[in-house]
Amino acid sequence: MRSFASPLAAFLALSVLVNGTIAQGNSSSDAVGASPVFSDVPPVGVADPYVIAAITQKLALYDIAIDTKNFSALSGTFTTDVAPNVALVPIKGLAAYEAFLQADLAGKRTKHTTDTVFVSNIEPYTAQSISYSDAVYFGRGSALGQQFTFYERFDDVWSKDKVDGSWKISERSLIFFGVAGNRTALSAEQVEGLIKAGLLLP
Ligand SMILES: *[C@@H]1O[C@H](CO)[C@@H](O)[C@H](O)[C@H]1NC(C)=O
Ligand SMILES: *[C@@H]1O[C@H](CO)[C@@H](O)[C@H](O)[C@H]1NC(C)=O
Ligand SMILES: *[C@@H]1O[C@H](CO)[C@@H](O)[C@H](O)[C@H]1NC(C)=O
Repeated sequence: MRSFASPLAAFLALSVLVNGTIAQGNSSSDAVGASPVFSDVPPVGVADPYVIAAITQKLALYDIAIDTKNFSALSGTFTTDVAPNVALVPIKGLAAYEAFLQADLAGKRTKHTTDTVFVSNIEPYTAQSISYSDAVYFGRGSALGQQFTFYERFDDVWSKDKVDGSWKISERSLIFFGVAGNRTALSAEQVEGLIKAGLLLP
């Protein structure tokens, strides 16, 4: 396995991972991930709007938790045994995921926005979602006023806790659509990782 200078570089170089579904920056394919089909949208059941609302809230909680760097709040969104497929380095368990995100976001000002959310396969104790997330990094110091955005998609599997009824992510994969912006808003490590991932030109 290739080794990276930091979890951050590994995270950013992950575009090759995600089960081969990622479209690299200069890939000839336009496809990013698998597309849902209309048969994935069943008639809405009586309880489904509550499930969809609960899942949408949990995705928002993730955005707020990492932008405010309140990593312990991630326990509201993820199961303790989650092993997210978001980096070349294996991440096993919520504590490891929290540490990973904490290292990645140290010293950064960010705004994460979840917009498109598609919830499917709603069962009494499981569901799936596809959500789009834009991660904006704001430049600091001499890059003040500059910004750089990661356009991402999360494919999540949800589990409903049988005791308290809360919905949490038990499986997660990250796919990059692409990145754009002024690279001076990023750290040198981030730029290096994106170049390795084929998402930025050297
Ligand atoms: C992307 O472009 C770079 C520079 O032009 C090249 O070295 C690299 O092999 C390309 N990667 C892919 C996956 O086409
Ligand atoms: C962090 O999140 C937890 C859980 O939502 C909350 O109870 C706590 O007040 C938050 N801490 C800060 C400093 O915002
Ligand atoms: C990128 O940001 C730097 C400041 O960090 C600035 O000097 C440069 O002009 C910006 N580039 C573009 C294309 O806006």
